[in-house]
This record gives sequence, C-alpha cells and structure tokens, in this order.
Amino acid sequence: SERTKVKLLLESGVVGAEVAAMGWVRTKRGNKNVAFVALNDGSTIHNIQVVFDMTRFTEEQLKGVTTGACIAVRGLLVESPGSGQRVEIQANYLEVLGEADATTYPLQKKGHSMEFLREIAHLRPRTNTFGAVLRIRHAMAYAIHKYFNDKGFFYIHAPIITGSDAEGAGAMFRVTTLDLENLPRTEDGKIDWNEDFFGKEAKLTVSGQLEAELGALALSEVYTFGPTFRAENSNTPRHLAEFWMIEPEMAFYDIQDNMDLAEDFLKYLIRYALENCADDLEFLNKMYDNELIDRLKFVIENPFERLTYTEAIKILEAANQKWEFPVFWGADLQSEHERYLVEKHFKKPVILTNYPKEIKAFYMKQNDDGKTVRAMDVLFPKIGEIIGGSQREEVYDKLLSRIHELHIPEKDVWWYLETRKFGSAPHSGFGLGFERLLLFVTGMTNIRDVIPFPRTPKNCDF
Ligand code: 4AD
Ligand code: MG
Repeated sequence: SERTKVKLLLESGVVGAEVAAMGWVRTKRGNKNVAFVALNDGSTIHNIQVVFDMTRFTEEQLKGVTTGACIAVRGLLVESPGSGQRVEIQANYLEVLGEADATTYPLQKKGHSMEFLREIAHLRPRTNTFGAVLRIRHAMAYAIHKYFNDKGFFYIHAPIITGSDAEGAGAMFRVTTLDLENLPRTEDGKIDWNEDFFGKEAKLTVSGQLEAELGALALSEVYTFGPTFRAENSNTPRHLAEFWMIEPEMAFYDIQDNMDLAEDFLKYLIRYALENCADDLEFLNKMYDNELIDRLKFVIENPFERLTYTEAIKILEAANQKWEFPVFWGADLQSEHERYLVEKHFKKPVILTNYPKEIKAFYMKQNDDGKTVRAMDVLFPKIGEIIGGSQREEVYDKLLSRIHELHIPEKDVWWYLETRKFGSAPHSGFGLGFERLLLFVTGMTNIRDVIPFPRTPKNCDF
C-alpha cells in the first residue's frame, strides 16, 4: 500500500505532500466544525494528529472513528500549530477498516493497572507502555545479534526438546505423546518411555549451554539465543516458566575473560537502548520511573565491582540487617542479599565469583581449594542476578568425578564427556536472562510485563 508509517511522517514527512496513514485511533475530540484524531500505528510511541474539517466530512462518516478503531486516512501533511508535533494530517479521505464498539473496548483513555492489562494480553500491545516495551524488546534482540556478529561469534541453534538436563535443578517440563490414561509400564511398574515418540524421556530445555559448549569446542566463539523453560513453582516478579536466554560460549576464555565479556556486553546493550530507543525510554522515564535513564547511564559509565562469594558473605554477615534467609558460608544467595550488595553496599553492578561447589552446577571448573568453583554471577540494581556463568571444567577426570559425586547417569552425558576426551580446551560462558535485561532497561517491575505472553504458574491462557 502507499501508506507511510507514522514514525516516518513525523520525523521526515515533507510538508505539503499528499500522504496516507493507517493505524488505531487513540482519542478523538473536537466540535461540530472540526475533529482531531490521535492516530497510532505502533511504529513510534508518538501519535500523529489527523484533522477532519467537518465541512468536508459528515457526522455519519466519523461515527466509526472511536477509540480503538482502525482507520485509513489520506490528506495533506501540514505544519502542526498546536499538537506538540512537527506535522499533522489535514484529512481529505477516511475509511474505517475495523470498528471498535466504544462501550465494550477494554482500553479506555484513563490509565489501566498492569494487572488488568495482563488479563488482556491480546490487546495490551496497543497501549503506550507495551508498545514501548515491545519496541525496546525488539531493539535489544537485534543488538544482541549485532554485538556477537560484529565480534565474529556464530549463532548456534540449540534444541528446545532435549534428553539432557543442563542445570541439574530438576525443574523440567516433560514432552510426551503417551496416552496418559493408559501409560505403558515396564515390568517393575515404571512408565516405559521406550514406548514414547523419542524412545526416551524428553523434556523442554532449561538451557542451551551444553550444546553451545559443543559449538565453542569447534567454532571457538558461539552463542545461543532461544526460549528456555523451567517448571520451578516460583511466583515472583523475576521468574517466568518460559523465558529467553542468551548464552555465549568461548573456547580459550578463562573466568576473567568471561567477566570482561559479560560487562562489555551488558554496557553495549544498554548504550544501544539509550541511543536507539530514546523516545520510548523518555516515555517510560516520565510515566513510571524518573530515575530510569540516569540509572542506565550510570551503569554504562562505571566499572562493575568484582569480588568473591566469600568476601560477599563477610559483607553480608557484617551488615546490620534482618534477613529473611540466613547468611552463612555455603548459603545460596537470595535476591535480598544480592540487592543489598548492589543497591546498599556498592551502589553499582557487582560480579561475584568462586561460589561453593555445592550450590552450583556440575560443569563448573573446580578451584584448587577443593571447595569452590569458578562461577560468576552478575548482579544488577532492582534485579538481582541478571547473568549466571562460569569457566567450565575441561579436565576429563575432574569432570567425571564430579558427575559421579552428583549421581548423574554417565549414559546421559557421554557425549559431553567426550569433548573432554578429544581435544579438550579451556572455555567459559554465561547466560543472560533476556527478560531480566528488559526489566532493567525498561524499568518495569514485573517480568510478566516485558514478554508478550508470560507463562507463569497457573497462567497459560493464550
Ligand atoms: O543462572 P542460570 O540458571 O544459568 C544457566 O542456565 C547457565 N546454563 C548459563 C550459562 O552459563 N550458559 O540462568 C542464567 C540466567 C539467570 O542469571 C537469569 O537472568 C535468567 O537466566 N533466569 C531466568 N529468567 C527468568 N525466569 C527464570 N525462571 C529464570 N531462571 C534463570
Ligand atoms: Mg544462576
């Protein structure tokens, strides 16, 4: 069609040109002589004003132009005297493409609560807030690919259906074609997965890391970027059952190189958002969180604090705080501890390293102290853990003995072990939770509001 996107019209439309636009009506006001319609097509947070001179249109023609309706207009692009925009459209043609009954359209002019908008996830992209979030989400996805492509990393597509359990956290969704009413059983009464589609128990992946490692041990520097699934029943503002994860994996990187990459990567993405999503960030800054843009700038301008888990525990023990979860060496850090370090103590992002091996996954490189592993978590203000990663154990015997200690069946990881048998190499990687990044960049406070269709316990409607 000959339509021009609203963003282009507002930014570079030629005054005096005949233009066409299509979009959804945000508001209509006016009197019997003139009607002003704010039109939005999602290309930008800004609406274009369309002016209807009522000597050229009838009341009847404009009846279908109500909040939520979809319309097509043509007219003259003129300088705008008062709409706050450079230009507006002086309409000479109107077609209502899709009406929206004003009495039942759920999105009204007044603001709506985030909770209400979650119940109408099919319509919430039409709000300013979700338009902004979705455009920023797109920009971040694009920037992630650009960052790695420019560095010579290769994008590896890890499988979504998998037979392996990368994190060993035991919170996986099962994929099955079995008839649940008549489950096939083995002689000892267990479900006979041999009878299922894959001839074994299949699950939705919790992480593409193990596959990324296979890629790194052939292509040197790779990354995955895909959906991952966790059946943990954690109903928090920072957990989803289906979330997207970016997992770079690099041969010949040690834990220091890994930290450097993680810090550079996060700063690149935030800078990219500031430079390319300015309108949307300004809107969010004004609407919800007037420190958002300052916080983003602060993070890109200051080095992250780096310390060990053991040092962090000492700080937390010395803190004059009533913890909900107790602090002691060996404890898994909770979000209250992580946020204390970042928001109260250091007042900037923190990278913690060398965690106790008991609270981390089997594949992490063991330190010589016999107690800690070369893990690294990046902690962010307002978020807590945004990245989890490590240097990987590349020594066959050490990896095997850890697998035995944790009673991981060798037959499940033989292929992973073989990479340590044939041409093993030191390597490292990490996982960035895409929605956690978006929480930070948009300033939204609930992870359900930075993904189009959130999947959480008891919520999978559409
Ligand atoms: O720390 P995690 O579990 O690490 C891994 O999965 C590794 N395999 C990553 C790697 O080394 N390649 O998860 C990584 C990140 C977390 O820091 C967090 O940002 C995010 O994924 N994450 C979640 N985001 C939303 N909802 C959940 N339930 C999440 N669980 C983890
Ligand atoms: Mg983690």
